[in-house]
Amino acid sequence: MEKMTSQLAIELEDKYGAHNYHPLPVVLAKGEGAKVWDVEGKEYFDFLSAYSAVNQGHCHPKIINALIEQAKTLTLTSRAFYNDSLGVYEKFATAYFGYDKILPMNTGAEGDETALKLCRKWAYTKKGIAENEAKIIVCENNFHGRTITVISMSTDPDSRGGFGPFTPGFITIPYNDLDALAHALEDKNVAGFLVEPIQGEAGVFVPDEGYLSKAYDLCKAKNVLFIADEVQTGIARTGKLLACDHENVRPDILILGKALSGGVYPVSAVLADNDIMLCIKPGEHGSTFGGNPVAARVAMAALDVITEEKLAEKAEQLGQVFRSEIRKIKSDMIELVRGKGLLNAIVIKPKNGKTAWDVCVKMAENGLLAKPTHGHIIRFAPPLVITEAQLHDAIKLIEKSILAFD
Ligand SMILES: Cc1ncc(COP(=O)(O)O)c(C=O)c1O
Repeated sequence: MEKMTSQLAIELEDKYGAHNYHPLPVVLAKGEGAKVWDVEGKEYFDFLSAYSAVNQGHCHPKIINALIEQAKTLTLTSRAFYNDSLGVYEKFATAYFGYDKILPMNTGAEGDETALKLCRKWAYTKKGIAENEAKIIVCENNFHGRTITVISMSTDPDSRGGFGPFTPGFITIPYNDLDALAHALEDKNVAGFLVEPIQGEAGVFVPDEGYLSKAYDLCKAKNVLFIADEVQTGIARTGKLLACDHENVRPDILILGKALSGGVYPVSAVLADNDIMLCIKPGEHGSTFGGNPVAARVAMAALDVITEEKLAEKAEQLGQVFRSEIRKIKSDMIELVRGKGLLNAIVIKPKNGKTAWDVCVKMAENGLLAKPTHGHIIRFAPPLVITEAQLHDAIKLIEKSILAFD
């Protein structure tokens, strides 16, 4: 067999894979904790964490053990039968997040689709909206995934362009705009408001303090479900278990994914109380892989790690360190630093034709991986298991890379 090199791996992906991504030219072969290694053995800090899926660190032994043990015993039965792991997980996860019920799926986009279906069902069976008339309010610059219905809610031309016709039933309002929300809620057919507590893909947009709690109150006043997409912000990333916890908001429908498995397996979920969740009846929704025994065991281990290693507290503390240290870097390429916990971004002001992409290429050369999101914004989201000493080392690499353009 031909010896694998970075160049060969890139050529193979380019030749045989669809061209729906534009990766940095780094080929990873191994990961442990906050670090990854490429095919040639070069070491990097991972400051993307697979878009916040690997909050618990790469190949966390407890999660990998759960995966291996369950994989040796029983992997998939479908939901045509019961299995001896799912109920245990459902009890565990509902207690963990404080809801009556959980509906297990696999990817984040499926979690969002599930939440939309659940909201519509609730609208017709509980709120009394006429069949096919329900509307859901969404925000400009949202990111909820890639399915047709999910991109129907998107305002990003790259996500939507050439993929129509779109699913109807959405009202789009600006993010972080309570007046716009109040106005949109005047429509009697509104059933839900779907929101990211921080817009991750849009460039880590943190709304004003009080936005989520006031938005929640506005929704309650109109008997509209507050649906939080915490696929990226949830599970300790922003310094609390959920980003909504910063404002003591308990969403009516909560969507989780990514770090629910520590990045080990595709596991997503929708949580809600009985009044809402039981609107969906047997046969009306499902997934072959959703709630399989491996996913159930992996998710329980992943959530245990969050608690045992106090990762929310760690994200809060290290996030403060990160932002204050980055703000000390003297470079006119740094326009703004923002974020919560360990979900942060630097807004880059291009200099001499050098952009956020060039900064990311330079950081990769220096041993730190991050990726621009929306052109001029770089997101920094290391695994939450990163130590304070490692974080300081990483910040030095970021500083060195940015100052290389001065
Ligand atoms: C907020 C949010 N929702 C949904 C998704 C989609 O998740 P997936 O890629 O697992 O479908 C993402 C992915 O980045 C996300 O950030």
